Amino acid sequence: MTISAPAKINLSLRLTRKREDGFHELETLALPLPGLCDTLEITPSSTFSLHCDTPGVPTDESNLVSKALRLFEKETGIACNFKIKLIKKIPHGAGLGGGSSDAAHTFLALNELTHAKIPLDTLADWAGQLGSDIPLFLYQSPCWCRGRGELIEPIELKWSHHLLLFKPAFSIPTPWAYSRWQDSQEIPGIPYGPQNIAGHILVNDLERPVFEKHRFLAELKLFLLEQPETVGAMMSGSGSTVFAILAKDADHEALTTRTLAELVPTMWHHFCPAGFPK
Ligand code: C5P
Repeated sequence: MTISAPAKINLSLRLTRKREDGFHELETLALPLPGLCDTLEITPSSTFSLHCDTPGVPTDESNLVSKALRLFEKETGIACNFKIKLIKKIPHGAGLGGGSSDAAHTFLALNELTHAKIPLDTLADWAGQLGSDIPLFLYQSPCWCRGRGELIEPIELKWSHHLLLFKPAFSIPTPWAYSRWQDSQEIPGIPYGPQNIAGHILVNDLERPVFEKHRFLAELKLFLLEQPETVGAMMSGSGSTVFAILAKDADHEALTTRTLAELVPTMWHHFCPAGFPK
């Protein structure tokens, strides 16, 4: 079986308070990106093994794919002897949910391959034990996520804008971004306020702590907002990806070339055409 695990962006991410368990209560609108996917190739084998095409990605029991498989085995009592090859396209530490999507799609694939027929809500409960933003990927749909991120409401979303994603070489550790939220300050001259794009209110409360430490990301957002091809720009999740929302018929190649030339020529970038589902 070959399965695609798409990235996501957060069109909105609002934090309300720090909870007693250390997590933050939030409300976020997640949009899957079928135009940017990791791939999982799963074949029957005598034992479980994980392989990855990208150096530096752990292939031991610490990988979320391994954790998902082990939890599925424990909960169902079914031995999952599969060889899983992970082909990475989604950058790590980018706020795009790559590892979480890989884990969610491992649950979905194992459910099908073993004929276990575990209901989606039960899989979501297991996924939530491994990470707050894993359950959302099980629904393969735009969704509102609440609580610490694990309470999912899939929605129909009209979204017809192409997106252009940029990520500098550095990554942001998610726990650090959350831990700095309460005490962080806005940088004067940087727009953080809500952007109304086709009736959706775009705002990300984690921009404040992340921009304070990584001023480059604030400058990247400002630069993208000022370009004629865009109608909006925002950081995704806890960063370090910043996405530009493109105007209708905008020349994304011209915008890519200009952004790289004026900021960082080697910066990772990816064009995601509008459209959901696949
Ligand atoms: O749930 P997950 O393990 O992905 O979260 C990683 C870290 O991000 C948590 O340990 C916590 O520090 C922070 N976090 C948070 N509030 C959330 C989600 C994550 O503080 N709602």
